[in-house]
Parts: sequence; C-alpha cells; structure tokens
Amino acid sequence: MHRVYMDANATTPLAPEVFAAMHPWFTEQFGNASSIHFHGQRARAAVERARDQVARLLGCRPAEVVFTSGGTEGDNLALAGVLTPGDHLITSSIEHHAVLHTAERLQERGIDVTFLPIDGSGAVDPGDVRRALRPNTQLISVMMANNEIGTLQPVTEIGVIAREADVYFHTDAVQAVGKVPIDVKAIDCDLLTISGHKFHGSQGTGALYIRRGTHPLPLLFGGPQERQRRAGTENLPGIVGLGQAAEMAQAFVAGSGPARIAALRDRLEQGILSRVDESGVYGAASPRVPNTTNLWFDHLEGEALVIALDLKGLAVSGGSACMSGATEPSHVLTAMGVLPERARASLRFSLDTAATNSDVDFAIDLVPAAIAHLRELSPTYNRATKHEPAASGIIR
Ligand SMILES: Cc1ncc(COP(=O)(O)O)c(C=O)c1O
Repeated sequence: MHRVYMDANATTPLAPEVFAAMHPWFTEQFGNASSIHFHGQRARAAVERARDQVARLLGCRPAEVVFTSGGTEGDNLALAGVLTPGDHLITSSIEHHAVLHTAERLQERGIDVTFLPIDGSGAVDPGDVRRALRPNTQLISVMMANNEIGTLQPVTEIGVIAREADVYFHTDAVQAVGKVPIDVKAIDCDLLTISGHKFHGSQGTGALYIRRGTHPLPLLFGGPQERQRRAGTENLPGIVGLGQAAEMAQAFVAGSGPARIAALRDRLEQGILSRVDESGVYGAASPRVPNTTNLWFDHLEGEALVIALDLKGLAVSGGSACMSGATEPSHVLTAMGVLPERARASLRFSLDTAATNSDVDFAIDLVPAAIAHLRELSPTYNRATKHEPAASGIIR
C-alpha cells in the first residue's frame, strides 16, 4: 500500500546520514568515554565532537550542553533541578505533559505553580507572565513551539521579562529544532530542552542547554559524567547521531527548506478546508512552525478519522502523539477554550522535511472523502442542508 507519513511531531525517521554516523559506534568503535585507554579516548572525542555540533545549533558554549535521554528528561531536569519547596513556577497550560506533569508533581512537594491561561490564538500573553511574577518566583517555563497546533510562543519577550525580574527561564524547544532558528542568547534563556527523535536523530537522545552559572540539582546520581550534571555512561552512538542530526537541522533551517514545507502545509490546509464544510484551523492567527497544522471538522470523532485515514495509508494524529489512545480531549485545545466535542474532532498534520507535493495531493484527495463518509454516520450532521466551506477556507 502507498503510505504517506504526516506525523513528524510524533517522531521523525532517522536520517540515513545519522544512521551512518552512529553505526560504527555500536560495533568496531565501541568504548566508554570515561576510560583513559585508546578506546575510551576515542569515544570521548566523539562525544565532544557531538557536543560542539549541538552547541552550534543552539548558539551556546559546548560546556553548556548536557546530553540526556530526550525531551522528557530535559524538561524534568530543568524544573525539578531548579525548584525547591517554597519557590514559585510560572508555566503555561499548553505545555507538553513532560512539563505539566512535572509541575503538578512539584506542587505536591510544596512548590507554588501558576498555569497561565491561553486565549484562542494559542499563544501565551507575555503580559500574563509579567503579572504572574511574585517575590518567590524562581522559574518561568514556556515552550518555544507547541507540539499540537504549532504556535510559536513569544519566548524572546518572556526572556526579557525573566531577566528584568532576575528569574530563571526554561523553554522546551523540542518542537522548534529543525523548523525555526534557535539562539539561546537571543531568547536569553537559562535552560532549553531538545529531543533527537524530533529532528531525525534517534529516540532516547536529547540535550539540555544549561547556561553557565546555572546549577540545577541532577535527577540522576552516580558517576561524574556530564560534569556531574547527569550521571550514567554516555549513550555513545545516540550522542554521535544527535550531533550529526543537529548539524543537519541547522543547515536545513538556514536554507530554503522551511519555506518549502510552509508552502506545502498551506496548500494542504487550503486544499482540505476548501473541500470540507464546518471546518477550520487552530492557531492560524499566531506565528506557527512551518510544518504543522491542526484542523477541526465538526460532526465526527478525530480518532475515527485517524483510523480511517490510516487504513487508506495516511498517518496523522488526532492530538498529541504521546496521548494517542486517550479519549480525553486535548488539554491544549481545552485551554484555548475549544468545546470538548470540537476538540475531539481535530486532526494534526505535521510534515516531515522530505514531504512532497504528491504527498499533499494524496492527503487532499483522501481526507475530504473520509470525512464525508464518517459524517454519513453522524446523527448531528444535517445532510439536507447545503454546507458551504468558509470563503477563505480558514476560520481562525
Ligand atoms: C514539546 C515536547 N516536549 C517534550 C516532549 C518529550 O520528548 P521525548 O519524546 O524525547 O521524551 C515532546 C514529545 O512529543 C514534545 O513534543
């Protein structure tokens, strides 16, 4: 069966170049980067080369990069490492669960947390961040790009607020890498999370940028690896792959790739919305990463549509991938004020860097037909009424 993958925000395929870079480090070039003999020193050099590559991607010093097991660990380390009982955390209600659930856990341990509300635009209001500051605020954590609707958050403005208030600033940039430029100095953040498998590295790899002078308490204790910031023998092949993926992501963003993907995404959006009535797109009024669109279609269940499309060869998501299988409406859409029926009827398309025009044509052919079919079964869809798509095809 012809299959098209439009779920890059869930995970991306390992790039062949990344696989080639990793391969020898599984076999003949093995070594423990802490050993002082030849094998160890060769492994150490490979880890440090990867650290340089990640540092170039983020615009920081190599010593400010700590390798982790992925986005979840980076977010946990940033929050749990900086906050102690009595502190106050400001975060948003549209963060990934790696931040939200960590914040909830910290609340149980005596940390005050403000979950900032969000409006229909899908972006945090920096004014809300400023108004939420308290004398005991220790950390602000607001993501760079939302995984479900792709909205870019005003991290540069929040960085200024954090600096003026002398408060630490963490941003989860997991969904920003390889889509928009990242520069920790421009954002003026103290901590920034990335995850390898979202930009063609391997699953179970990632890094946390920790600004010099910031000393989060480690989550893992043991050996002195990562300058005592993250104990445990380094994942050598994974780290080498992360470095290669970082170099490629940086080159992709610097070139014409993002504009090409944005044009494909816009054509996909228009192509579907102009053929389907009672539909719209979330977050279109805000700046978004180029590869993501989240559409709503009334009178159907998003999960049913995901399954129907999968049976025809199109892989998309009905919400956050980490949530698939759950029937609860998305917390992001709920936070934006979307009613549960509509929140359950949403579909996220997230294009990979290799997406083509013919992939988009495939989806434009398939999605309206699958929706029409599912709506035939819907008790609420009035087939007698002639439904017209919105004039622009986009309802903000
Ligand atoms: C915004 C965001 N943060 C964190 C994570 C967790 O990353 P990982 O899968 O590497 O643990 C994800 C994964 O979907 C994400 O989208």
